[in-house]
Amino acid sequence: MSKQIITGFPDNFLWGGAVAANQVEGGSDQGGKGLSTADMAVYRDALGRGEYEKHYSISDRQIQDAIAATDISCYPKRRGIDFYHRYKEDLALFGEMGFKVLRVSIAWTRIFPNGTEDQPNEEGLRFYDDLFDEMIKNNIEPLVTLSHYEMPIHLVNECNGWLDRKVVGLFEKFAISVFERYRNKVKYWITFNEIDSIIRHPFTTGGIVPDRFSSGEIENVLYQALHHQFVASALAVKHCHNIIPESKIGCMLTRLLTYAESCDPNDMLLAHRENQLNYFFSDVQIRGYYPSHMNRRFAEKNIQIAMEQGDEEILRQHTVDFLSFSYYMSLVTSINADKMDKVSGNIAGGVKNPYLEKTEWDWQIDPVGLRIALNDMYDRYQIPLFVVENGMGATDTLGPDNQIIDDYRISYFQGHIREMREAVKDGVELWGYTSWAPIDLISASTSEMAKRYGFIYVDQDNYGNGTLNRLRKKSFYWYQNVIATNGEEI
Ligand code: BG6
Repeated sequence: MSKQIITGFPDNFLWGGAVAANQVEGGSDQGGKGLSTADMAVYRDALGRGEYEKHYSISDRQIQDAIAATDISCYPKRRGIDFYHRYKEDLALFGEMGFKVLRVSIAWTRIFPNGTEDQPNEEGLRFYDDLFDEMIKNNIEPLVTLSHYEMPIHLVNECNGWLDRKVVGLFEKFAISVFERYRNKVKYWITFNEIDSIIRHPFTTGGIVPDRFSSGEIENVLYQALHHQFVASALAVKHCHNIIPESKIGCMLTRLLTYAESCDPNDMLLAHRENQLNYFFSDVQIRGYYPSHMNRRFAEKNIQIAMEQGDEEILRQHTVDFLSFSYYMSLVTSINADKMDKVSGNIAGGVKNPYLEKTEWDWQIDPVGLRIALNDMYDRYQIPLFVVENGMGATDTLGPDNQIIDDYRISYFQGHIREMREAVKDGVELWGYTSWAPIDLISASTSEMAKRYGFIYVDQDNYGNGTLNRLRKKSFYWYQNVIATNGEEI
């Protein structure tokens, strides 16, 4: 039997980039848009690096202040990078880089400003019509996330975010509205961005205000809200398949690959448990049921998830077509973690890995981990994978003639794309790669502008000063060549 050896990326590999509505659009008071959870995020000098958890755990007082604010200059996600008005220019630049795909999200609050209206907001629908038309004009396939770190603030105040079962039906209505409207324009969909992150940042991901609950009940609250998101995700899969038969719809995981600090079997077990816990979120959406280790965990912690009749059937019947994920770093764990050096910036913190370099924001850089993660996920699920976020936040400096020589960024991407190519050669079925982010935007965690990810520089500082002009960085030309050679020249 002759075996086919894979030598590189497939011809139809989808190269591109990823952004989220709340981090780029701005225009938060335009087109009939309602206020969202993201519009509450504050940037102030006093909230320096390392203090960003405060953005995640917001209080009722902060929400009231944000809703009442007349000076909105310290709410950067309300201005984004003005993509709302400049998307044509930005798409032309992505087109110039040769993008085949662009991952965007739809702001729920543009379509249903409060989440509870009977009819969708036509002006909001029209904005995304124009956006998708312009993408298609630039030969860029839209990959659309339904929920990327935002929901109507009205639902936070009226329903405690995703804790209220009612939100499942409201989200379902939103999903159906956009599937019907964009059925001829969008083939690739993602339900929830980093659905696992509700445990790490309840407000950003689930609209949960932790102060409203006692420390004894919060974990139960989070898993209950997550259950509602799982059901909503499965219902979105169902409607997507019915309304757009040729569509592909995936789930999205923050892949937090965890290594054991030593070969002590107890360290190995701990690392195994961490990885198992990370996979819980994709297990439910890909296999269609809660894994038994989670049922044991819930029982031991006295967590009781209220399920409606039919929920298990919905989860089982409407599993996703592909697994998309973000990969920024790997983690290390140890039974002796208390006595070891830590890294602070990593999404989930943890023990320092002495073999890895870090970014300025303390995220450990691990390209080989991406190959391991890809192989491991494909071994586990045997469904197509999609890298929908990978990139490095860094400070960029404007040189003479406004040049930006970002060799550090090129080197980050070189390492990761090389290892991704190895995984493809290992036999992993990978549909595409969207870098985070192809253009500088507002940071999700810190609301800074100074933490730059793009191949394209945006002239704006943390306070919103600047011309908003777009400039091509050195990495722009490098990525353009990667795409032109289908990943042969890295
Ligand atoms: C991912 C999010 O977790 O990380 C993005 O999906 C986010 O929205 C990205 O921007 C990078 O994180 P940050 O905090 O540096 O913007």
